[in-house]
Amino acid sequence: MRLQGKTAVITGAASGFGAEMARVFAREGANVVVADINEEWGRSVVEEIEGINSGSAIFSFADVSKKTDVDGMIQAAADHFGRVDILVNNAGYTHRNMPVDQVSEEEYDRIFDVNVKSVYYGMNAVLPHFRAQDQAGPNRGVVLNIASTAGVRPRPGLVWYNASKSAMIGATRSLGIELGAENVRVVAINPVAGETPLLEKFMGEDTPEKRAAFKATVPLGRFSQPSDIASAAVFLVSDEAEFLTGVCLEVDGGRCI
Ligand SMILES: NC(=O)c1ccc[n+]([C@@H]2O[C@H](COP(=O)([O-])OP(=O)(O)OC[C@H]3O[C@@H](n4cnc5c(N)ncnc54)[C@H](O)[C@@H]3O)[C@@H](O)[C@H]2O)c1
Repeated sequence: MRLQGKTAVITGAASGFGAEMARVFAREGANVVVADINEEWGRSVVEEIEGINSGSAIFSFADVSKKTDVDGMIQAAADHFGRVDILVNNAGYTHRNMPVDQVSEEEYDRIFDVNVKSVYYGMNAVLPHFRAQDQAGPNRGVVLNIASTAGVRPRPGLVWYNASKSAMIGATRSLGIELGAENVRVVAINPVAGETPLLEKFMGEDTPEKRAAFKATVPLGRFSQPSDIASAAVFLVSDEAEFLTGVCLEVDGGRCI
């Protein structure tokens, strides 16, 4: 029960990494706001969590590229559970793997709105709640950004996705240094290609050859699984990581070495 008494808001929690973080955080005792644009899948994650720990999860419809939605999901956490301790900026978007000059302006804007501007909206929405909470210790509030190895060791065909994840990493480090004096921690995870619905867009097409080529770049020889990301996430947002800020942890089977 490493997150007992804490309330976490997780964006993009209807699927993939976000859904598994929601389940694992709940198992560790947290209250969870499952925030997503996919209401059907989001509500089914809430139902699963209710089976683990009744009364510990709610769904909040939130498009993270919209300020009013982001403000609303943070307020929903405060209204329902009385506090906000953890924000996980996990919702993400990419263009399909393609040459840089074929990516439309709409796709470019969507990538930066969902992957980067969401962090700006989230930070501004959550900080007043962190500040109002009276803990003087090192865990007054934690923001975890799910960036990517794409921001550290990019692959071709994903230029603007890669760039957006580099921006998330830069924001994490900058926020870590700026908010340290307020006992607010900001950290990131950089997952390697993982078995979620996004994988097909990263590869361009889902074929045995593409899968083998991607796996060949990972020293430990496999894709990441949602459980790999959730295990690292629990540690980073828990009090056990109280001396870590600005850290961007690769969960990548050695891909970035
Ligand atoms: N799967 C990978 O290979 C991989 C690797 C590195 C990093 N990541 C990152 O991990 C994060 C989670 O991705 P995933 O692989 O679990 O994908 P996923 O498709 O399983 O889940 C993404 C979720 O985000 C939601 N979402 C999309 N746009 C949204 C928006 N505007 N507002 C709110 N929710 C929105 C989707 O509805 C979905 O539920 C993303 O930020 C992604 O960039 C994924």
